[in-house]
Amino acid sequence: MGADLPTPAPVRGDDHPVVALTIAGSDPSGGAGVQADLKTFAALGGYGCAVLTGLTAQSTTGVTRVLPVPADMVTDQLGTLTADVGLDAVKIGMTTDAAVARAIAAALRDLRAGGRPPYVVLDPVMVATSGDRLLAADAEAVLRDELLPLADLVTPNLPEAAVLLGTRPARDAAEAAEQATALLRLGPGHALVKGGHLDGPEAVDQLAGPDGVVALAAPRVATRHTHGTGCTLSSACAVLRPRHDGWEPAVRAAKEYLTGALRAADALVVGGTGTAPGPWSGHGPVDHGWATRAREGTRDLAFQPDVSRL
Ligand SMILES: Nc1ncnc2c1ncn2[C@@H]1O[C@H](COP(=O)(O)OP(=O)(O)OP(=O)(O)O)[C@@H](O)[C@H]1O
Ligand SMILES: [Mg+2]
Repeated sequence: MGADLPTPAPVRGDDHPVVALTIAGSDPSGGAGVQADLKTFAALGGYGCAVLTGLTAQSTTGVTRVLPVPADMVTDQLGTLTADVGLDAVKIGMTTDAAVARAIAAALRDLRAGGRPPYVVLDPVMVATSGDRLLAADAEAVLRDELLPLADLVTPNLPEAAVLLGTRPARDAAEAAEQATALLRLGPGHALVKGGHLDGPEAVDQLAGPDGVVALAAPRVATRHTHGTGCTLSSACAVLRPRHDGWEPAVRAAKEYLTGALRAADALVVGGTGTAPGPWSGHGPVDHGWATRAREGTRDLAFQPDVSRL
């Protein structure tokens, strides 16, 4: 009975979790890529969706193979998903190749013409911490010319900011701040140039927006387990933005979450315990679940996290 009656569209209550989408690649080791993004969304109270752009064969010791998802399949994933699911925020990570980057840009342009999603974070994954280039030159051009103008926040590391601007990497905080401001001319609403690769007792990122530049600092955590910090930060920014009044408070809260995850990383032993013989050369993941473990008291984290502001 009633099977033929049309079902009215469901309505979300005010306390509904933020629905966040990551458009990114798979990291089977779970420290980066969609796996890190979904864990971050969940840890910060959101509901996560994921569109895959590529598969990697990867561990804490590096990437051995990348298989792009065909661009028309990226288009179909996005079209099918967004016809049904209303998105509050989107994070874009690995764009894999020029065709995939174009497919993402086309879908986002259509969506944003209709006013959704309200917040788009672009993590321009182009240069690994090792210095290796991760995107071909034609894909870099699509990212700069088509995706950057669609982003509300872009989050390059120092070498990526330099590639986007066609200059050399910033060597200090002042140069990073200048480059963050220069990036705004390429079209994003805000630019966060990350200072993880600089030295010093603090990890300082430069956030540029219409009102100027602000330096966002967090204590630098002494750990080798930094796999996926960039993915974690950008997805935290995306899922936190709808609950914060502006990008600056959202990015501050995202850095607080990431710093906790870095502080808990040494206690999370992932990598170096498998079948490969010989000494381990990897970088393990940060602990995306640190705040839950801290609240539950199931792990002595050897520090006092302030989870109240997340
Ligand atoms: N040791 C650390 N302690 C605290 N914060 C850090 C540390 N290393 C990096 N960060 C922070 O992590 C975030 C990511 O910065 P980073 O410059 O490492 O980006 P990335 O190179 O894109 O990362 P990834 O290699 O994961 O892609 C920034 O907010 C940065 O300040
Ligand atoms: Mg990165």
